Formats: sequence, C-alpha cells, structure tokens
Amino acid sequence: MYPLHLDVSGRRVLVAGGGPVAARRARDLADAGADVLVVAPALCEDLRDQLDRVTWEPREVEPADVADVWLVHTATGDPQADAAVAAAADALRIWCVRADDAQASAAWTPVVVRRDDVTVSLTTGADPRRAVALREALSRWLDSGAAPLRRRRSGPGRVTLVGGGPGEVDLLTLRGRRRLAEADVVVVDRLAPTAVLDDLDPEVEVVDVGKTPDHHPVPQEEINRIVVGHALAGRRVVRLKGGDPYVLGRGGEEVLACRAAGVQVEVVPGVTSAFAVPAAAGIPVTHRGLSRSVTVVSGHDEVDADALARIEGTLVFLMGVTMLPRISADLVRAGKPASTPVAVVENGWRATQRTTRGTLADIAGLAAARGVRSPAVIVVGAVAGMEEVTEGVPVAYRPHS
Ligand SMILES: C[S@@+](CC[C@H](N)C(=O)[O-])C[C@H]1O[C@@H](n2cnc3c(N)ncnc32)[C@H](O)[C@@H]1O
Repeated sequence: MYPLHLDVSGRRVLVAGGGPVAARRARDLADAGADVLVVAPALCEDLRDQLDRVTWEPREVEPADVADVWLVHTATGDPQADAAVAAAADALRIWCVRADDAQASAAWTPVVVRRDDVTVSLTTGADPRRAVALREALSRWLDSGAAPLRRRRSGPGRVTLVGGGPGEVDLLTLRGRRRLAEADVVVVDRLAPTAVLDDLDPEVEVVDVGKTPDHHPVPQEEINRIVVGHALAGRRVVRLKGGDPYVLGRGGEEVLACRAAGVQVEVVPGVTSAFAVPAAAGIPVTHRGLSRSVTVVSGHDEVDADALARIEGTLVFLMGVTMLPRISADLVRAGKPASTPVAVVENGWRATQRTTRGTLADIAGLAAARGVRSPAVIVVGAVAGMEEVTEGVPVAYRPHS
C-alpha cells in the first residue's frame, strides 16, 4: 500500500450509490472541495441534505460514467454494479475505492483524525474497528495537551485568547489545551490555571502579566502590545486568562487590538468563575422556584444600586471584596431586604476555597472578621442561602486537591 493525500479541489469525483456510505464519501469529498457527481436512482436523507453541494444524476450508474473523472467511489449496494464500474475505471487507469469488497478494491479510504492543519490518516488492513479504536486514542492524545503540536517551520502568527476556567487545569477546554500545545508564546494572567504551564515545551516563552488587586504591574495597553508584537513576528500566541475571556476579562479589547493590527485572532471560551465558583460552594446561580435569572456585575467600579435592587434574580459580583461594605449597604438603601442571603466564595476550585455566608445586613462585618480576600465571588439572592433552606441540595462540586 502506498499512502497518499490527494488535492481534489475542483476535480470531478464520481460517487456511485445513494445510501449512507455514499453520503459519507460525498460529504468528505465536498468538504475537500471536490466537484462531486452522485449517480443513483434514489438518495438517502443524508445525501438529499447535500444537494446544494453535489450534482445528482437520478439513474443507475453505468461504466461510461467514469470517463472524465479523477477518482471513483462505488457504494451502490450491488456488488455486480460496483464491479462493473471498478473494471471500467481500471481500464482507464482511474483509481476506484470499492465499498462492497475491500479485497478487490484498488484504493482504500483511511480513518482520519483532523485537528486544524494536522491530519492523521490510518489504515489497519481488513479490521476497520481497530482503526476506529486507534482514532479515538489518537484524538484523546491530540487533545490532551501532551502532543507536540508546535510548528517547527515559521508561518503566520496568530493570537488565541484562551479562557482558562476558575483554576483547576481539568476545567480548561480541550481546545484550550490544544492551543497551548501549539503555542510559541503564552501570555498569562494571575488567575489563570498556571499549573498547565508545567506541561509546556521548555522552548515556549511564558510572559507573566498577572495583576493583583491594587497592583497592576502590566497595563492593558502594554499587554495588547506584547500580544500583537509576538504575533506580528510570526509566533503563535496564547493569551491565557482566568475564567472566560469575555466575562469581565477585557478580552474584547485584546481582540480589537489584534484586529486593528491585522493579526488573526480567535477566542476559546472558558468556564467563568461567575458561575463555577458559586457551584464549587454548592450554590447554583439559578434554581427553580428561587431564581430565574443571574446578573454578573463588576464590583470594581461604582455600582448602580437602584437598578440592581430592582432585579429579582441572583446578583453575582466579581472583583467586589474591597467594595463589599459599600455594595451591601447601598443595595439595602435602594430597597433590597436586609435579610437577603449573601455568600462570599474565596479561591474557588482551589485547596484554599472558603465560603462565608450571611445576609446583606451582616456580610460586610462577617467578611472583615474572617479576613476575606480577593479572589472571591459574591452571590446575592435566595440561592446564596440554599444550604440552609434545602437540606442536602445541591451537592457541592469539590476541587480535586
Ligand atoms: C478580572 S475578573 C476576571 C473574571 C474572569 N474573566 C471569569 O470569567 O471568571 C477577576 C475576578 O474573578 C473572580 N475570580 C476569578 N477566579 C476566581 C476563583 N478561582 N475564585 C474566586 N473568584 C474568582 C474574582 O471576583 C476576581 O476578582
């Protein structure tokens, strides 16, 4: 066997047959840009759905159909018809893949794993289930972050904003892990899951732009410059952030800076601390009968207490520890009952996670007495009191360590 990848774009390929196998072949060929001709008296639903991308001739296939095509796939379900088409293709020295009889076939389609510009094709003789099992294993490996996916030849740079989730590495998405494995440079925040950096290739440059409250070592404009600069120099940059890049994470500004500089940019979403940190403390941000909405607010800036006090659902404050006395007092002054439950969850998903519970009336004093510090998520609303009102529900998601 001689493995080969074909550029079929714009080239005519004959698919003989209208069933599910023909549909899969036609779809893969159309995805690769081929000019697909399907010849079959009737089509299955999957093939009908593709009629805007393939040409269909509704009749039985004939050997003469191979005359001006580059490649043939037979999947008529009729071995005699497949054999006749294959023989005609053979006579014209056109490659033909037979679905009915792998042994008699002149060519075989491999099982394929694709991740962006990486394609792995594999065949395992007459044992397709083994190939499928291998494909699953390869997929897991490619997504694990352990595969050496970094480019060894230079190419165009790009930026990927990766949402790292609230802290634990296994709350990072598979796509985020893969982008990290591809990266030449990682620009990382303080609240990102920094343990993942231990798995990077030693040649990867790590730039720490971590901010702590009231101490901003690298201004946002400088972060934008670093990220854009590396990408313009032809590097693949991952901007690794805590939570989700677009939830109070200034991801939008970084994307705009990339676009303004003509740099290719994409965003990989992350698990936001606004929802995941309350969950780690056993608090669902919405719960049937208690709260039908959730509003995420930055506690860093001045909050509009009048508007927030009118919201019936859950309020979640990020960056709100310093302002907690002011926020709770203003909400009460604006009409929210002083008995409204409040929970402050520090260091969610970390070994040091701690929850302080109270009400709008007493939470500021309780938090001060316990020395509550950032990072913490503040939950205001009925759900924040759930452990007290609903016995045993919900079950808290506990960090691993
Ligand atoms: C600048 S905001 C970024 C939020 C992030 N983009 C997200 O979606 O989670 C930082 C704030 O997120 C919250 N935060 C992030 N990670 C946290 C964690 N592990 N535990 C508690 N709060 C966290 C804190 O309120 C912190 O001040």
